[in-house]
Amino acid sequence: MKNPHFSLMWFTLLSFFCTWMIALSTKSAAGMSLPSNKADSEGSVPTEPVSSDEDEYDGEDESEHCGLYMAISSTTTPEEPKWGYYAGKNIPANSPIGFGDIAIHTFNLMANQIYMENDQPVDDFDRNPRANLVDWLEQFLWVPHSSGGQFEVAGEGTRIITAVPGGGVLGGYNPKMTNADWNHSSAYHREALNEYPGVSHPGRGAYSSYYNLELASTETIPAGKEIFLNYGENWDGSSNGDGKTDPLTRSDYKKVDQTIEKMMAFFEKYRDDLDDNTKTEIYNFMVQDVMSAAAGKEKGKRIADILPENPDNLGDILERGGSFHLNSPASIRSPEWLKTSGMCMDNIRPGPSTIPYAGRGAFATRAIEKGSTVAPVPLVQIPDDKIFQMHQVKAIQVPAIEKDTDGPIAMLVRDGEETFARQLMYNYVYGHPESSLVFLPVGAVVNFINHSKERVNAKLVWSDHLNSKNTQWFAEDPQKLIDDEHSHLGLLMEIVATKDIAEGDEIFLDYGDDWQVAWDKHVAAFEKIKPETWPITALDLNQEHKTKLIRTKDEQPYPDNVSTKCFLMVKKPKEGEPEVDEQGRRIRVWSEADSGKPNIVSDYLFDCEVISSSETPEGRFYDIVWSNGESTTLVQKVPHKAVVFVDNPGTSDQHFLGFRHYIGIPDEIFPQGPWRNANSDKDEL
Ligand SMILES: *[C@@H]1O[C@H](CO)[C@@H](O)[C@H](O)[C@H]1NC(C)=O
Ligand SMILES: *[C@@H]1O[C@H](CO)[C@@H](O)[C@H](O)[C@H]1NC(C)=O
Ligand SMILES: *[C@@H]1O[C@H](CO)[C@@H](O)[C@H](O)[C@H]1NC(C)=O
Repeated sequence: MKNPHFSLMWFTLLSFFCTWMIALSTKSAAGMSLPSNKADSEGSVPTEPVSSDEDEYDGEDESEHCGLYMAISSTTTPEEPKWGYYAGKNIPANSPIGFGDIAIHTFNLMANQIYMENDQPVDDFDRNPRANLVDWLEQFLWVPHSSGGQFEVAGEGTRIITAVPGGGVLGGYNPKMTNADWNHSSAYHREALNEYPGVSHPGRGAYSSYYNLELASTETIPAGKEIFLNYGENWDGSSNGDGKTDPLTRSDYKKVDQTIEKMMAFFEKYRDDLDDNTKTEIYNFMVQDVMSAAAGKEKGKRIADILPENPDNLGDILERGGSFHLNSPASIRSPEWLKTSGMCMDNIRPGPSTIPYAGRGAFATRAIEKGSTVAPVPLVQIPDDKIFQMHQVKAIQVPAIEKDTDGPIAMLVRDGEETFARQLMYNYVYGHPESSLVFLPVGAVVNFINHSKERVNAKLVWSDHLNSKNTQWFAEDPQKLIDDEHSHLGLLMEIVATKDIAEGDEIFLDYGDDWQVAWDKHVAAFEKIKPETWPITALDLNQEHKTKLIRTKDEQPYPDNVSTKCFLMVKKPKEGEPEVDEQGRRIRVWSEADSGKPNIVSDYLFDCEVISSSETPEGRFYDIVWSNGESTTLVQKVPHKAVVFVDNPGTSDQHFLGFRHYIGIPDEIFPQGPWRNANSDKDEL
């Protein structure tokens, strides 16, 4: 080649090579993610945004335009139809997706179903349909850590699993396209809305005090893109998709896109120096040889398949959303498709209810005309409401199933038949007195909607959305609704406005006469037993300290029922500064994570004791100590945002076994037929 820029060209080629070498050597270094009931095969979260279409929807008032849709997922299959969660607007990287939703914790949900027969636990799903039901339900639930609920009970003896309606159920799984993760900080630092510190009122323990759990984008999410969550490390997601294994990882696809950009820049730069033949020669050399040398043979081959034959067409790949999206075009939908096939999910947001002592409520984000949809309400069908009964549980020893475990392992089972309470989740399900079936509503924010007979402005109706199976499923026996054929979310309701609703109005449903009677009874009973005052909770203290320094251990102590915890990521002190103090404690300095991950995640939360505090122009800081049992560490300059209060195990409001009642589905819309199986637990307790 007689090209004057020959050496420069080589330099550029080398830089493609570098892109790949770096990619390979840093692979999965940041593979830290939350464990969960849900999935993940890769774990690492990309830190660079994908190229995105920055076009706004011209001429439309932003607030008028729906920011989140529910529609059929791009991962749906005929065997397993799935709802998906889609961005209606461009969402910048590291921004909230929709509104923070509620987290509802359950305790030992599975152990409560496992009973003993002839000294043996009955835990196989064929013989024990309730255990099977819990197993089905668990696929929609999470470990409690994203919302901070892991401290609700102490020790190993209790398993907490948590429902997070909205994104927590509808957010899809596609490990290569993960673009969202929980923002733990939003939950730990939630505003205490309507908490009435110290006041003893009948709403105590009747609703979850865990809310404002937000999803955050981990990269730019263009309008129309489906939202896929980081399901965590424990999820077995290997069977996802078509079963073909793709040698390229998510970050490899980003490298492919970057390489395409570089190639395009290269050909642009040397446009005048290269004739068509030379250009093709160089391009083929890049695609075949350079790629396979840089990325390895297997990956190189896959990349060669993706890249176009003609270098002039490289730009098409980027225009169509990047190399990965080309594989799965349905994960980006057009605005028109979303409007016609989807349902808007951000017409309501949470806020402090205008009903005294009712906790949080839901408020209109935009005007909603009478007769139109306030919110879609996909339902998780739960054929037997007895799974919410709570019994004492005990640990028994059972032989290990896996060969590599030595000796028997502990298993939690129901201890006796006596029911002492119901799970808090029972207050959130929709039900009917003649049926054992209840439904967990999983639309975004719908679990915040409160009850009022006087101010009712919305009602529940069955949806006629094309993907719902409502009428077919009405004819099924409740127990069949979780068999293989029905093991997905096929039932869909809508909350529809019964009046014109103005922006900012609180939404109210009529939970039904049974609910009202039960509530009135509860209020009357509570009046008789109510304590003078109510213990101060972690939520109260976190709120109080939004504007105030946290007291040190030598100042006035905090109530016994709360603990201080710190989010700790630390580094060594500067060169020359002491690493050990005069009391022999290791010295470390708080450090904002370099990993691209925020520090305010449950994984880094430790017991800590505040020993000194300071108020500086940069903010409030603390020196804290934490001990791992063997050694003690002094951490300096811990910022205010990294210190939180949590309720001690067993002391938060939900352990006060207050009001429990399901939300009533109006009799007029509850189907006649097999659902009315008169087998309900509704009046038993
Ligand atoms: C996470 O929540 C906190 C509120 O505590 C907020 O300041 C932060 O911006 C949120 N981060 C993202 C990425 O949304
Ligand atoms: C208000 O709504 C919450 C859901 O956030 C619910 O648990 C609670 O029981 C409702 N309270 C009343 C008084 O309706
Ligand atoms: C701690 O919680 C228990 C159970 O809720 C309560 O009885 C007790 O009064 C609380 N103690 C303090 C100091 O708040």
